[in-house]
Amino acid sequence: MSNISETHIPGSIAIIMDGNGRWAQRRGLPRNMGHREGCKTVEQIIEDCARLGVGYLTVYAFSTENWRRSEDEVSGLMQLFRYYAGRLLVRARDNNVRVRMIGDRSRFPRDIIEAINKLESETRDNTGMTFVMAANYGGRDEIRRAAMDFAEDVKAGKLEASELTEETFSGYLDTAGIPDPDLLIRTSGELRLSNFLMWQCAYSEIVITDVLWPDFNKDVLLKCIEEFNGRKRRFGGV
Ligand code: IPE
Ligand code: IPE
Ligand code: MG
Repeated sequence: MSNISETHIPGSIAIIMDGNGRWAQRRGLPRNMGHREGCKTVEQIIEDCARLGVGYLTVYAFSTENWRRSEDEVSGLMQLFRYYAGRLLVRARDNNVRVRMIGDRSRFPRDIIEAINKLESETRDNTGMTFVMAANYGGRDEIRRAAMDFAEDVKAGKLEASELTEETFSGYLDTAGIPDPDLLIRTSGELRLSNFLMWQCAYSEIVITDVLWPDFNKDVLLKCIEEFNGRKRRFGGV
């Protein structure tokens, strides 16, 4: 592996953390054990990214479609949100990390909404990396909610429909103020977006690794970054 000091660290990284279920199944364990291991990976990767100097790390924790899973799995994931909200707060404080949540939090149980609000408010003034957690997040749902908010503002006379630019619309998205991902990583080998950051990833470089999320670590991350460094981004130019 090349020297880290020669590696260009992308300012904004997004990760589709996939493969928890398969990780558990391969060990004859219940799927929720995979999610538990996956949460440990998240904690470690936040710290690694903060130390590497990543500006924004966005992870896909729970999609608008993940409610379709069994009641047992969904309630297991809710328990993990509860438990890790507290741990995350400590990690965030220790690493000067600001936490933001994207997605429609209104569908979560009351205590989880409060935990998320607390994570955001208590880390607001941290000046290091921003950690963005996508929970009950769907790219289409985010765009739908943004379009509704924009329509309301037009109705209220705040602006004209014809004034809408891409920049203005971006400001209505949950990710307002967060730079588009330079690098999008998906673990576990799946070659799809699964409704993640569909507007924001228009020009992101996509790196897929076969590693399952609970096995993901700093070395795998650096390999993904190395692959990113070998890409030539053109943004439609020549
Ligand atoms: C990703 O792992 C975590 C969530 C979607 C919450 P999966 O649970 O999708 O794991 P696989 O894809 O079934 O292996
Ligand atoms: C995407 O993974 C959602 C998260 C990682 C939270 P899924 O496992 O839900 O996606 P599909 O079903 O394989 O497309
Ligand atoms: Mg999956």
